[in-house]
Amino acid sequence: MKINLDLLKKLERSINTINPEKGKVPIRILGFGEISLVFELLEDPNHLAYKRIPIFDNELQVKRHIWAYNNYNEILANAGLLLPDYDIAWFRDHRNKIQFYCVQEQVAAESVGNKIIHEIPIEEIHLLVLLILREMKKVWTYSRKHKNIDVGLDGQISNFAVKGYNSNNYHITPETKLIYLDTSTPMFRIKGKEAMEAVLFLKSAPSFLRWLLKALFLEETVGRYYDWRKVAIDLIANFFKEQRPELIPSLIRLINKFFAEEATEFQIMPITVEEVQKYYDSDKNIWVIFQSVRRFDRTLKTKIFKKTYDFYLPEKIKR
Ligand SMILES: Nc1ncnc2c1ncn2[C@@H]1O[C@H](COP(=O)(O)OP(=O)(O)O)[C@@H](O)[C@H]1O
Ligand SMILES: [Mg+2]
Repeated sequence: MKINLDLLKKLERSINTINPEKGKVPIRILGFGEISLVFELLEDPNHLAYKRIPIFDNELQVKRHIWAYNNYNEILANAGLLLPDYDIAWFRDHRNKIQFYCVQEQVAAESVGNKIIHEIPIEEIHLLVLLILREMKKVWTYSRKHKNIDVGLDGQISNFAVKGYNSNNYHITPETKLIYLDTSTPMFRIKGKEAMEAVLFLKSAPSFLRWLLKALFLEETVGRYYDWRKVAIDLIANFFKEQRPELIPSLIRLINKFFAEEATEFQIMPITVEEVQKYYDSDKNIWVIFQSVRRFDRTLKTKIFKKTYDFYLPEKIKR
């Protein structure tokens, strides 16, 4: 993969984490999750997606993460998921700080699930969710077949892109292929041991609150990605966040039918509307607390202590 390290280094010298598109090296934001910033370098002709992950203190952590990342990608591909071409870039910047990027071949912004669901008719949204469930089944089947390995997946609708989607006259069909994007947080366990150093997750939280978040949320937030039922609930709850709550009851019926007919061997209990609502409320609270604490920390660091702040923070997400 042709990664332009010099351009990345230049970017790091002048990055503006508060207004990332206003820095000296022009970038365009492709998306952002709760922690990472995903962008393209406008001066780079290779159409790559760079995911900036500013959480590493030392090379040992980096090496372990690269190992976990490559393995996670391989496991998902072996399980049968379609992934974009991928690579890693990292270096020490002018301040000797480690900068780390997961790099992927870019997919079209309008092909990502959370965009598509606002464009296609309800029947096709149902079909899209069914296709996502079938991708998930590949992952949980892999875990069943490999006794020593447990694989987790973040089943958010924004993590899947429709291959070959174009906004003029495209129809989702049972043959439509999905691409899974979110591999930068490697989630697998070998004989029960987490491959990724899970506390790295929390690195973007301010240090004074890290221990508290760890105690309260780490087991719950990391563990739930290994539980298919919880991952499915998360997928449905997305429709609250995406402002399409009217779809939730029919999607729950669809998922329960899928579990009963296409995934019988997993013996997954039917999901209820109340459960999804409750889950959504508590999940929302976790991230709202997390993001507002981070904002407070940024204010402290930049305004009061006049330090730089390493993280890009998403605008307040409408929920
Ligand atoms: N390869 C890619 N090409 C284009 N856009 C991408 C790509 N990967 C991610 N994105 C965009 O960035 C968003 C966040 O990326 P993701 O890998 O899911 O990170 P996170 O862990 O922060 O959720 C995606 O929902 C998508 O909109
Ligand atoms: Mg994501």
